Amino acid sequence: MQVQIVDHPLAAARLTTMRDKTTDNAAFRAALSDLTQMLVYEALADAPTATVSIETPLTAFDGARLATPPLLVPVLRAGLGMVEQAHAMVPEAHVGFVGVARDETTAEPVPYLESLPDDLASLPVFVLDPMLATGGSMLHTIELLVARNATDITAVCVVAAPEGVAALERSGHPVRLVVAAVDERLDETAYIVPGLGDAGDRQFGPR
Ligand code: PRP
Ligand code: URA
Repeated sequence: MQVQIVDHPLAAARLTTMRDKTTDNAAFRAALSDLTQMLVYEALADAPTATVSIETPLTAFDGARLATPPLLVPVLRAGLGMVEQAHAMVPEAHVGFVGVARDETTAEPVPYLESLPDDLASLPVFVLDPMLATGGSMLHTIELLVARNATDITAVCVVAAPEGVAALERSGHPVRLVVAAVDERLDETAYIVPGLGDAGDRQFGPR
């Protein structure tokens, strides 16, 4: 599996803001939005383009556009904080939604929402979720996509645990990971260390 770590001083600065426990909800959301812009920019670096013939004020010119804009799939709740910025980067993209909440005792994913196109063959898909911890929520989402014939899936995350990366690798699904940092480990409650806490709570408050 391809793992692309977005290692840039501006990405590191936004991630530091997100990690800081004194950052309030609004500043956390703003840093996540900025960081999403960088992650999506990097995730699309090798995307195929199609030629668009235009006229500049001076002459004819063959420009470019994305050949196939990806379907954006935020994983609720925390992925909601990424979708507006990702959509601003790719305004022509369609958007699907998946809702999963981890059981707080077992850390198992509990699905509660699925709103996706029926057929994803030949469509790239960007799954937006800031946190990849055990990998359970991401794997659930990927399985929904693969069941709809997706063969080109990118997980766009902020922080991953090595355990989550390994789970994606083991799955054998057609996925690559674009992430700002791979942290040290999971703790005994399956939170990422050093991490940033609960990405949903830090944007929207406790549920
Ligand atoms: C968080 C996060 C991921 C999941 C990662 O969501 O946004 O979806 O945990 O953990 P995993 O890799 O072990 O599955 P959470 O379940 O806390 O729900 P929320 O976004 O509604 O807060
Ligand atoms: N989900 C989060 O929001 N944070 C973690 O550290 C692990 C799962």
